[in-house]
Formats: sequence, structure tokens, C-alpha cells
Amino acid sequence: MRLSSYLFSKSFFLLFLCSLPSVLLAEDSASSTSYRAEPTPVPPQSGIPQRVSIYEPYRGGNCHGYRAKDISETEQGVTGTLELIGSPCYAYGTDYSALYLNVTYETEDRIHVSIRDVNNTQFQFSNRHDVWDAPLYHYSSSVDKSNILYNFSFNADPFEFWITRKSDGEVLFDTRGHPLIFENQYIELTTNMVDNYNIYGLAETIHGLRLGNNLTRTFWANDEASPLDQNMYGTHPFYLEQRYKPVDSDSNSDQPTYTSSSHGVLMLTANGMDVLLRPKYLQYRMIGGIIDLYVYAGSKKPQNTITQFVGSIGFPQMQQYWSMGFHMCRWGYENISEIMQIRENMRKFNIPIETFWSDIDYMHNLRDFTVDPISYSREQMIEFFNDIESTHQHYVPIVDAAVYAANPSNRSDDTYGPYYEGVEKDIFLKNPDGSLYIGEVWPGFTVFPDFTNPKVQDYWKAGIHNMSYAFGSNSSDYIPFSGLWLDMNEPSSFCVGSCGSELVNLNPVHAPFKLPGEPGYLALNYPAGFNLTNATEYASASSASLSQYYATATSSMQVVYPTAVPLGVQPKFDINHPPYAINTEQGNHDLANHGVSPNATHHDGTLRYNLFNIYGYGEIKVTHKALSDLQPGVRPFILSRSTFLGSGVYSAHWLGDNHSNWPNMFFSISGMMVFNMLGVPMVGADVCGFQDDTDEELCARWMAMGAFSPYYRNHNQLGSIHQEPYLWASVAEASRRAMHIRYSLLPYWYTLFRQASYDGSTLIRPLFFEFPDEPLLAGADRQFMVGDSLLVTPVLEPNTTTVNGVFPGSEDVVWYDWYNHTSIEHKPYENKTMDAPLEHINVAIRGNKIIPMQVPGYTTHETRQNPFNLLVALDKQGNAYGNLYADDGVSITPNATLWVDFAAKSNKLSSVSFGTYEVDVPLANVTILGVSSSPKQVHFNDDNISSYTYSESTQELVLSNLDKFTSTGAFASNWTISW
Ligand code: NOJ
Repeated sequence: MRLSSYLFSKSFFLLFLCSLPSVLLAEDSASSTSYRAEPTPVPPQSGIPQRVSIYEPYRGGNCHGYRAKDISETEQGVTGTLELIGSPCYAYGTDYSALYLNVTYETEDRIHVSIRDVNNTQFQFSNRHDVWDAPLYHYSSSVDKSNILYNFSFNADPFEFWITRKSDGEVLFDTRGHPLIFENQYIELTTNMVDNYNIYGLAETIHGLRLGNNLTRTFWANDEASPLDQNMYGTHPFYLEQRYKPVDSDSNSDQPTYTSSSHGVLMLTANGMDVLLRPKYLQYRMIGGIIDLYVYAGSKKPQNTITQFVGSIGFPQMQQYWSMGFHMCRWGYENISEIMQIRENMRKFNIPIETFWSDIDYMHNLRDFTVDPISYSREQMIEFFNDIESTHQHYVPIVDAAVYAANPSNRSDDTYGPYYEGVEKDIFLKNPDGSLYIGEVWPGFTVFPDFTNPKVQDYWKAGIHNMSYAFGSNSSDYIPFSGLWLDMNEPSSFCVGSCGSELVNLNPVHAPFKLPGEPGYLALNYPAGFNLTNATEYASASSASLSQYYATATSSMQVVYPTAVPLGVQPKFDINHPPYAINTEQGNHDLANHGVSPNATHHDGTLRYNLFNIYGYGEIKVTHKALSDLQPGVRPFILSRSTFLGSGVYSAHWLGDNHSNWPNMFFSISGMMVFNMLGVPMVGADVCGFQDDTDEELCARWMAMGAFSPYYRNHNQLGSIHQEPYLWASVAEASRRAMHIRYSLLPYWYTLFRQASYDGSTLIRPLFFEFPDEPLLAGADRQFMVGDSLLVTPVLEPNTTTVNGVFPGSEDVVWYDWYNHTSIEHKPYENKTMDAPLEHINVAIRGNKIIPMQVPGYTTHETRQNPFNLLVALDKQGNAYGNLYADDGVSITPNATLWVDFAAKSNKLSSVSFGTYEVDVPLANVTILGVSSSPKQVHFNDDNISSYTYSESTQELVLSNLDKFTSTGAFASNWTISW
């Protein structure tokens, strides 16, 4: 799709161009390679070392909590006042003496507990609907109390509360025995937990699916490459809890049987926070704000709890159809010709590619909203875009959050409009003294748009628009892009504080560290597993590299910790170094390290301290609106690194800077599952790995598994070896095979996306979502389901040609092998070993399901022109169900939609269509698995089907040439097939 067809009228464009005269006159200055100089040493790099509070003696032991007064209960909830018991305990701040309690029965399944100081001194995130607005705030105030699914109970002195689910008495949240602490820079709320609790979520972090019972999760948006169990880019302080109870059974089975239930808990805040998961309790430790706690009563099915939660933060938007295709990216495509060459190679090796991506290489001197005049020249770009448009392929460039701060003493910077325009509009973050906050990112010293400022919208849209203009040779020759990639938007900054304030006339400076690939860059760029077969070389290289690292690091390191404040003494209020030091991952744990400081200030004086974790979300929203304005009616495609609750409404997410190794491939499964639970279904990892060098085996396995991720992109770091899938024969073959399946399944994927946008259904799901009564599945994360019908068992380790996996459900559940269609013998809890040659990924189809498919083409567009097929996997009773959703694949509000319900029972398959969207390609084949005997006759409505085959060994009935019955469209009318 060409942006031009949706963009500005000419007069608007001219007006626009006049208002932004200098944004993109990039050709007159130097080429992008000039940034490859030596790192610029810029003080200070590492901040003031902090004593991480969880590792220090606990200071809350003398706090006695609050006493409830004037409690009144209405139909809608409970209100009252809480009064501090005893004198201030000064745990990590100054105690408030009086608080308001406000408990609201918001919906039948959701209760909100709000606790705030009576004078409203603390920042209240829930008052900032301008920054974050969600369905959660828009409930009807008339929920019928007799229908609510939970009870709120409390003790008055000390104040403690607990929330139970009425139907089974399960206690869902319970503060008994844990005094509430409510101070200006520290709030502590604790709930008791059941033994060996199973909780999921509290993202973003790298961890197995089920969170451990002795772990601390820190919420502080952070640019870091895959640190295990530590804070990363996104903030989603929600968890799902799954509980199991044994059932007394009179059956003779030697397996105990269980029943289960699930519920959810959200702590709504954008402030920094540690959440302590401990064997007996879970404790929130927030460094600001108030308490906005939401408990979702849940139900038997985990998916229902997710629907309650995602419904409250916003169901995800539909994505454009093309975004389900394969994406190829790399940091380090030096010019557009290289990308054109990749396009040719992919075609030559017959490996589908849908979307080409540009990392910061395309920018002029790494500056937002510019293009490099030499390596990404206008003429070549036009040629490239015309080409990919003609083959229905797409292009997504990167945009960084930070904007280059022009050097006032360098005349060649005068033309960098995005800086001067932003300064004039006054839309950048400030220092507390009102000066510009100047950090440092790729282009040098940078400023940061304040995405909470209403004036930023037009500014950002103008930048985005002018970027597309910059590719064109005249005003009617816009060069389109298909979506935008938002990076570095925690936001990342490579120094501590406003480090560029006094140094901006050195700009452009090189990042304060070597970039990957530059001479002297310290990395062990050895393929995964290299150390196993080349132990000696690896050991000497790694020890040399590490000693060099420590020599560099220690020379600049002076760890001087602040003196601990004695217990009972009032700690000093401090925005950048709060008395409670959360366990943020960055070196020295200084909150300003590698990010924009907490004391940076928004346009209305709000400190970033209070909105810290929502910066990326702000950028997503502003970008979404800009793209919606530029392409009215079209679903914006946005991929964002930093996310917050509700980001899925607007954006996709990739799991960030992983490493080319097996553990990172494994952890990407739980990453995808968790983001699906959080309402961000379009998610995936950098396939083949981002940092370090990949290798053939890893890349082959990952390309295959990636084909079963909602978002499927191979991306690689500057300086690493290339990893395009045609570079190794086995990777090419594994990719072709897996992509053949992926593109065949596009109608199924798209239907799943529609369901997600409708009720928060997960696409990539843990096994326990579908089989909630099997406690052994609570932590299963080496296999995953795509929707409710497909079970994927990837190989996650090197040097093997087999893989183990379970087939959940009782023996009554039928599983069919994807490739040979035979039913797989399995027993409950049996870990089966399956063949898994390098180019093969194990996929099973669940009996009782019907999967809509299409004959795969080279692109998603081609696939959409091809006939449909149906795969009917019967259960033991001969039943199966499924559905299909279709629309134009582009529009926010399509003119027409189509739902088709499929049902198979008693040797009949019926298709019933609803809606007016016309699918004009026919139905070609129907494959029915689990047919116990050869049919005597097969009919399409009343007509005989003559072309069919039956295999007794696989019990498979294949009907072909059905297009003659469906020439006006596979689902243009309802039909029945009987056998
Ligand atoms: C960090 C991103 O996470 C990565 O994907 C990208 O390649 C680099 N920034 C360079 O833009």
C-alpha cells in the first residue's frame, strides 16, 4: 500500500512543508559513515552506587499499619478512613497519618481497592487519563451486588483485607498479618500466597513461564539485552494465578484427578516497584504513587481470567494481514542495494519474504526522520519501493525515541528541523530548572519528546510524514512505508542524567562505547556451542576478552555506597536516589543509569519519576494517531520495544535484544506466552538471535519455531555474521518447510487474531490454558499451543535429532501428526520421544478441531488469492468444530466481514457463513482425519463427490476438486459434506 494514496492533499502538504522547512534536507551534509569514530568519553557513565534494599536489612519491621475508621458499605463498595497506628515508622520515607480507602465493585468479576493519602499529595496515576485511559475506568456504576463473584472482607484494627471468590471460597488476595506501609516514597502491600503457587506474568522479564516462589521482579523500564530475571523494556504488573485441588475420585485410575481455578491481580502504577515473590507471600514495594489494586475473580478457565483482565486494559487491535508474513531485518545493511540483493536471494531460494526492515543504517548520521543521501539514495529507494509494491511486499523502517540535539556552533546542524522545530514548540523533556534534558543515544547528545504533551502529536506526525517525503523526488512522489518500528523508547540514554547539557557543542559525538563490529568491540562472537568443540581457542579468547573488560571497567569504577540511614530516622526525600532502592538491573542501580532520569520533567511539571514506565506507551499512542491520520481507516502497524499495560491495543512487540543461543530461543516461548496473556498477541523474538553469531543448527531450529510465532522476524546485530535463511542449506530447507505450514495456516492465524481482538484470546498459549486440570502442565514451557488446535514441540538444544514432548489430556484426546496425519498414541503424563531431524519441527493437530487453510503462495497476498482447504480432525466421537474470520485485512472498520462456523458430526461436515465479506476463491480440498471406515458415497450437498481417496492405515479421507461446487467462493453459501 502506498502512503501517498492516503496522505495529504497537495495544499496541505505545501502548508506542512512550509511549517517544517528544514526537517529533511539531508543531502547537503556528510554521509552516515562519519559516526564510526572513537567512543566519546562522556561523564558520568555509571551513576551513584545504590544499596539495593532487598539485599539490605529490612526497615519496615517497626511499622504497625493503619486502623480503619468510619467504614461504610454500599451497593457499590466500601469506603472509609485509615489512621496510622503509633508514630511514623520511617521505613523508607515519611508515613502519611491518614488515608482514604475506596473499594469499588466495578464489574461482576472485578474489584478495585484504592488507598490514597487524604490530602492527595501523592501522585495519582489513575487521575491521568490523558496519559493512560482504558476500559477499566469506564465501568457502569450500577453493578448489581447480588451478582458479583467476590466478597471483600476486612479487619479494622489493624486494617487488613481479603478478597474471596464466592463460588468456591478461594481467597484471592489476603493482607492479613502484614501491616500496610504508606509513605511518600515507599508503599508496601502484601498478600499471603498458597503453597507452591503458580503465577504468570509480572512482565517484562526473562524467566520460564511459571514464576518462581522466591524471586524479585523489578519494574523500571530498562534497555538491557536479555538479563535473566531482571527488569527489561516493558511494564505489566499483572499476574494470573492458577490453583489446583485434588478431587476425591471413585474411579480406579492410578492417576489422581484435580480441579482447578484461576484469577488475576493487577497493581496499576507507572512508578518504580519491586514485587517480592516469596514462598508464603507476595509483596508490592512501590516507590511512589498510591495503591490501585484490581482483583479479577477469574473462573475455571485461565483464558476467562485473561479475558476479564485484557478487557479492562483494552483488547488488542487487529493487525494488517501482511504483518503475518515473514520479516527480514538486520542492523548493518549498509545500503539499499544490499536489501535489494536479499530480496533477490530469497526469491532465488524460494523462501518467502513479506517485509524488509531498515535499522538505523538508513538514517543520515543516525538522526530520526532523515535518510542517508548516499547509501539509501532517493532514486534507489524509489526503485526499491516500486518493486516491492508490485509484488505486494512491505517495508518498515526504525524510528528512535531520542532526537539529535543540534550543535549550536555547527552550521551544518542548522538544517536539522526535528530538533529546532521541537525546541520551538517546546515539546522536549526538561531538567527541573527548565533547561532541556539532554541525554545521549546513537546520533550523539539527544533530546527526548515529551509524549504526554498535547503539542507533541503534530510534531511527531510531521516528522513521520517528512521522513516519507524525504524518499520522494517531488511532492507527488512520496515513498511509502508500511509501518514503523519504535526503538530505544524506555527511553534509553547512554549516560546518567542530562549529560549533554554542557557538552552539546561537541555534537555529533560517538556513543560512549564501541559499537558491535568496530575494532576493539568486546564480544565473544563465537557461535553457540563453539566452546564444546573448540575448547582451547574459546578459553583463551574469552579470558583475554574478559581481562580486557575488567581492566577497562575497574579503572573507572569507584564503588562508594551512601551511608545507611539509622532505623527510625526519617530518610531524606530524594527523587533520583529514593531511600528504597529498587533492584534495577543497570550497573550501580542508580535510577538514572542508562535511561532518562527520574527528575526529568514533563510539560506540566510531572516528574518522570511518576510516569517512568509509560514513556514507550506514550510514543506508541502518538505514533498510532499519526499513522491513523496519515492513512485514515488503515490499521497502523507499529512494533515497539517498550510497552505498558494496554500497548497491544496499538502495537506489536518483539522480545528485544536476545542472544544467538539455545537458552534465548527457549525463553522466547514463555516471552510469547506471557505477552499473549497481557493482550499483546503480535509478539515474537529476534529469530536466530540478535547478539553474537548464530550458527546453522540454531538458526535452522529457530527459523522453524519462529514460523509458529505470531510475529516472525529474523533480526541480527551490527557486526554479527549474516543470518539470512538461505545462507545454509539446512536453514533454507527448514525455513521453506515451516513457512509452507505458516502460510497455509494464514486463515487460521488471522481468525485467532480476530478472536484476540474480540475477547483477548491468546494465540500462543501454554498447555495448561487448554488442559487446566493437569497440575504437571503448570510449568510446561518447552511446548506451546497455537490457538486451541495445534501443539508445537520445537527442538531447543543442539546436537540432537529427537525431541521429547507430552500430549496433554486423557487418552480420549486424539492428537494427529501434522505431516503424516496418523493419530499419535499417548498416555497421560507420558513424555514421548519423537524424531526431529534438523529441517523438521513437530506439530500435532488436536482432535475435535477444524482448521481453515489456504494453498500457500510466496506472499500473504498471493496466498489470499489461492483456494481454501479444510483440515478436519475428528475426535473419538467423530466430532470436530472450528471457524474462520475474513475481511479486507487492512481496514480498522472493514465494510464487510465474514464469519464461518464449521461443525463435523455424525459423518457430516457443515459450513455456515455469516456476514457479507466475499471470499471469491473456491474451496479445493477437505481432509478428514479419524474416519474409521471407507465411505460408500461422499456428497457435497446433494451432489456426488467423485474425487476422493481413503487410507485405511491413516484413517484419512481426502476430498479434492471441490472447486467445482464452490466456484463462486468457498463460503458464498452454506454447504454440507456427508460421507
Ligand atoms: C536496539 C534494538 O533493540 C535493536 O533491535 C536494534 O538493532 C538496535 N537498537 C539498533 O537500532
